[in-house]
Amino acid sequence: MRGKNFGFVAGCNSGTDALILSLKAAGVNRGDEVITVSHTAIPTVAAIVSAGAIPVFVDIDPATWVMDVRNVKAAVTPKTKAIVPVHLYGNMVDVHAIKKILRELNRGDIKIVEDCAQAQGSTLQNLQAGTIGDFGAFSFYPSKNIGALGDAGAVFTADESAHKKILSYRNYGQKDRYHADVIGGLNSRLDEIQAAVLSVKLKHLHTWIAQKSRLMDAYRTALADTPLTFQTVTQGCSPAWNLCVVKLDENFSRDDFQARLLDAGLQTLVHYPLPNHLQPAFKNFCRTPLPVTESLANQILSLPFSHALDESTLNKITAIIKSVAAQLK
Ligand SMILES: Cc1ncc(COP(=O)(O)O)c(C=O)c1O
Repeated sequence: MRGKNFGFVAGCNSGTDALILSLKAAGVNRGDEVITVSHTAIPTVAAIVSAGAIPVFVDIDPATWVMDVRNVKAAVTPKTKAIVPVHLYGNMVDVHAIKKILRELNRGDIKIVEDCAQAQGSTLQNLQAGTIGDFGAFSFYPSKNIGALGDAGAVFTADESAHKKILSYRNYGQKDRYHADVIGGLNSRLDEIQAAVLSVKLKHLHTWIAQKSRLMDAYRTALADTPLTFQTVTQGCSPAWNLCVVKLDENFSRDDFQARLLDAGLQTLVHYPLPNHLQPAFKNFCRTPLPVTESLANQILSLPFSHALDESTLNKITAIIKSVAAQLK
């Protein structure tokens, strides 16, 4: 399918598959290196490893909580085949800055696969997430800004030949029926029922994004005088918030704070408590210390956040948080 303001879209089974299909179409092979962050959902890294590549972790920016592009240059080696910037919680990585670094290094061969699972509708300098790099990998898991009733995903690319490869890879490696043209094909079709649900929900995306934006502003205002800080928005980004994540001041224990909130009737989550480079499956891939990632993972918590949240419920939530935070002092 051809998109309106960008190249081509291929539906697939999940965001994880969208990443794997993109990496395959980018020509990533066994032993190639793919630069990404450790502070992301496990599937980002699982997809890189499933594509046969070695994840090379770079640290995040202490304010924006996404890939610190200043770390990219030092991570590039002759084996680097792709970079996966992750647009986390709705905020975006400065993909333009990564492209500039690759131009300066004369490494136009390195492909950029934007992980947009949490950034449906976010823009950077008015360009949609997923349309700035070579590939945009989207998830429509039910918790995303547009969620299907089950798993679903999509890959955007402006490169027609890469798009055709993705169509083959998602269909057992077949170019057309009974003709396999690529090795390593999957069964990763987008289920018709999920596609029908998504096409209805798509009409509401902008309304839901606007509501989440109002809720985020209300959280930021209400919690301004607490030991909680919010993610700084990357310059030029207009985020479509997927999650509302706050960081507790390092003088306090996040686990204690979370337990006190729960006692007061408020459940919170942590996205994500153990960074990928410390996960048993991936720890052997860790090459450099990632102090910003580790300290953030210890202090963050995710507040209730949905387009369906109303203002009076949000006020009750912030009242609980403020009273629990006051006890910490
Ligand atoms: C940042 C990120 N990348 C990739 C994925 C994988 O998406 P899916 O669950 O649709 O496979 C997710 C989903 O949780 C995610 O949050």
